[in-house]
Amino acid sequence: MSGLAAARSWDAKAALSIVQEKKSLDGALMPILHALNDAFGYVDATVVPVIADELNLSRAEVHGVLTFYHDFRKAPAGRHVVKVCRAEACQSMAGRDLEEHIKKHLRVELGETTADKRITFEAVYCLGLCACAPSMMVDGKLHGRVTPAKFDKIAGELR
Ligand code: FES
Repeated sequence: MSGLAAARSWDAKAALSIVQEKKSLDGALMPILHALNDAFGYVDATVVPVIADELNLSRAEVHGVLTFYHDFRKAPAGRHVVKVCRAEACQSMAGRDLEEHIKKHLRVELGETTADKRITFEAVYCLGLCACAPSMMVDGKLHGRVTPAKFDKIAGELR
């Protein structure tokens, strides 16, 4: 079973309704992107020109915001999501080594999904588990003092 909230498949008509429903908000771009990400689990690139038209922004502006924030996925996630903490306490406790290990183990870069769509690997900046650094979150569940061996064990249990 996936630990992800069920997301709908991308639906251009439903996406347009979300854009139109929120476009009159102050600083509507962020609420729109969040709403789309929540509804579909990611923000499809095809919505960029739609948002740009509705908000009277350039496509480059919308694209820039979409790609700047880690919160927004650009593609559907895999069945599981592993988020590794890249903030200071975890970095000082071999967090970077753990990150490199995960990349090699899964054969992905940050923000990517394994070829079999099993695991999406993402960064997060502090999980509030600094005392147990390095930390990660797997499908919403926190794990502290994560060693490469501990990661391998947890990842091996994700189907
Ligand atoms: S710095 Fe990693 S959990 Fe806080």
